[in-house]
Amino acid sequence: MSVQFKILIGILFTVATIAILFIYGIAEDQRMALAQKNFAGRSIQAGADYFERYCIVCHGEHGEGIAGKGPPLNRTDLLDLKSTPYLKSIKWNGTTPDFLRNTIAAGRPQFSAYYANEGYLDHMPTWSQDYGGPLRPDQVEALVNYVLNWAPGEFPPVVEIKTPTPGPTPTPIPPEEILKTIPFPVPPSQAILDEGKTIYETNCKACHGAELKGDGPGAVGTPKKPRDFADCTAMATFDLIQHHDAVVNGRPQFGMPAWKKFSNEEVWKVIMYERSPCKLFEP
Ligand code: HEC
Ligand code: HEC
Repeated sequence: MSVQFKILIGILFTVATIAILFIYGIAEDQRMALAQKNFAGRSIQAGADYFERYCIVCHGEHGEGIAGKGPPLNRTDLLDLKSTPYLKSIKWNGTTPDFLRNTIAAGRPQFSAYYANEGYLDHMPTWSQDYGGPLRPDQVEALVNYVLNWAPGEFPPVVEIKTPTPGPTPTPIPPEEILKTIPFPVPPSQAILDEGKTIYETNCKACHGAELKGDGPGAVGTPKKPRDFADCTAMATFDLIQHHDAVVNGRPQFGMPAWKKFSNEEVWKVIMYERSPCKLFEP
């Protein structure tokens, strides 16, 4: 083999390797883009579920708005990326996704001047846990993506690629076994009730109210009002098993989330706190 021939083979090999790497690189880019799109799709899907649960009562099934309750959200003037006359008119200088994120997270404790004459019955509630509302940041994000989904044309989804960490899946416990899972003596000590109160204030107060009366701002407009935990006549027929079921499985159709994130101990602590006005601690 001549030296020239060897050099030629060498060059051919190098070119082929570069070409393969290049093609593979493009495929990888496409794969990432697809993964990102799938992820965005899932976020929008989750957002649609939350929207149905928490928002349609005031903003309508497809964000078309309900007179006297909430403004339409599927409006071009709010969502169009190129020209957002509404955002300009209210002097918002940030992006549309930021505007939605902020509004949904913090709510509008006071009516804005723009909607002052609409005569809405209730305020836009606070939704993010960061502001004392009921939803996690990823749930707020999913709602932002869902609302943006109504934007005209292609709207790049504002999702970060990060794999959500699902909590451990608890093994279902038969009802008769549930009472055996109470991890402390009943009636509970004051220390247990205090811990229950802390859990309540962070997670439940927004909807169930500061005085446990079911009158928190987060439950404004839910299909069913939360019960008054201080109404002892009604509470007398609401036993520990039903109470446990309501907390762990929620009543999603009525706006009560399922609390899967708590340990068994946390669940029982917050239950005991909710039962403390009527002292109905024992099975
Ligand atoms: C109790 C009724 C009610 C519920 C429930 C509600 N909203 Fe609202 N929302 C309002 C009202 C009223 C306004 C207008 C407030 C104002 O600016 O005066 C509003 C405003 C908004 C705005 C700003 C619109 C604009 O033109 O400035 C967004 C975005 C929004 N809501 C999203 C949501 C989402 C998402 C949910 C569900 C998580 C939700 N809302 C649940 C009543 C509600
Ligand atoms: C987003 C609002 C919201 C949050 C946050 C919330 N709840 Fe509820 N909850 C509701 C609504 C609405 C109902 C009424 C549904 C029903 O009666 O079926 C309810 C009902 C309940 C009930 C009674 C079910 C019945 O049959 O009367 C219990 C118990 C309860 N919630 C516990 C909790 C606990 C504990 C937390 C916090 C860890 C919590 N909730 C957080 C909205 C909420």
